[in-house]
Amino acid sequence: MPTVSLAHELKPYKSLSNEELYERIATIKRELGDRLLILGHHYQQDEVVELADLRGDSYQLSQLAADSDDCRVIAFCGVHFMAETADILANRPEKLAERSGERVNVILPDMAAGCSMADMAAIEQIEDAWDELGEVIDTDDITPVTYINSAASLKAFVGRHGGIVCTSSNAKAALEWAFARRSRVMFFPDQHLGRNTSLGMDITNDQMPVWDPFASELGGNTEEALKQSKVILWKGHCSVHQMFRPEHVEMFREKHPGIKILVHPECPQDVFELADEYGSTGKIIQTVKNAPAGSKWAIGTELHLVNRLKQQHPEQEIHFLSPVVCMCATMYRIDLAHLAWSLENYRDGTPTNLIEVDDETAKWSLVALQRMLEVK
Ligand code: 13P
Ligand code: SF4
Repeated sequence: MPTVSLAHELKPYKSLSNEELYERIATIKRELGDRLLILGHHYQQDEVVELADLRGDSYQLSQLAADSDDCRVIAFCGVHFMAETADILANRPEKLAERSGERVNVILPDMAAGCSMADMAAIEQIEDAWDELGEVIDTDDITPVTYINSAASLKAFVGRHGGIVCTSSNAKAALEWAFARRSRVMFFPDQHLGRNTSLGMDITNDQMPVWDPFASELGGNTEEALKQSKVILWKGHCSVHQMFRPEHVEMFREKHPGIKILVHPECPQDVFELADEYGSTGKIIQTVKNAPAGSKWAIGTELHLVNRLKQQHPEQEIHFLSPVVCMCATMYRIDLAHLAWSLENYRDGTPTNLIEVDDETAKWSLVALQRMLEVK
């Protein structure tokens, strides 16, 4: 009788020490060699970052997944939309043809690692909003732009409707791309990234109505406001970045003369406008790296990244721009236990937590993602 291998249960891994888990993951890395690629987002815990082969912001991680040649499995230490994006890009038709049809498996070590912002826009809500908008304005003249922090179904919607995906590092270029084609934009799901970027392009707040998917009609807007709009923003936000407040900026400036405020563009407008510098997580890291010794920073982004910057740059004075702890609880779900468990299951022929976007969604998402990769 053929033997059937049983999947490893997660529970026993939770009682192993970090040293033991680290050793097990290191062993799999040696065994699988170039066939395994561990990608890690900058918000991951230090012990996970240490084991990642490559690290980046959302744009860089998409590029790494798109360019991966030798690997056959990507363990994505990040959140669900990132793993979906990696699956779409690593398994696009030209890559599949190069590998004679062999797929790259994408593993998300904990399936509960989602993104609360991405969850604020469901595809049914986007489709309903689009149809309702069509009763007031010409949707053929709107370019839909989705932040990469969204489900693949939204990226596919955008691809089908002549739109583009953007990340925090190319949002301005993506909006320029969008306006070169049509006179209006619908931007989802992060109202703050959409607003902060548009304000830098001479678009004013009264040209940016916010669409509330729970409002009874027209997203809570008047027909007039929608007709005058340049950018229709979605009522979504990041629960981590909305914790930073203007009073935190004022407090740091008062207590630490000469300090510079460096924030992620997912922060609300009132904080963003007070900041000295802003950028994606990759840009934040680069900005600190390039600063002279003795520089003082208060940084408004996820806690794990700010703490790592503090450790890596003792020659600078780095503070977290909030008196309260704001960390991304879903990114934090990826720990060594989940990583070891999912990798051992993969190695032992009982793969688990595979992220595979269906062909139709992948096809249209790819259209919008390729535009994103071309626009910087
Ligand atoms: P970036 O790493 O692209 O700046 O994005 C930050 C973020 O919130 C990811 O969800
Ligand atoms: Fe989503 Fe915010 Fe976490 Fe990024 S930091 S994954 S936007 S909840």
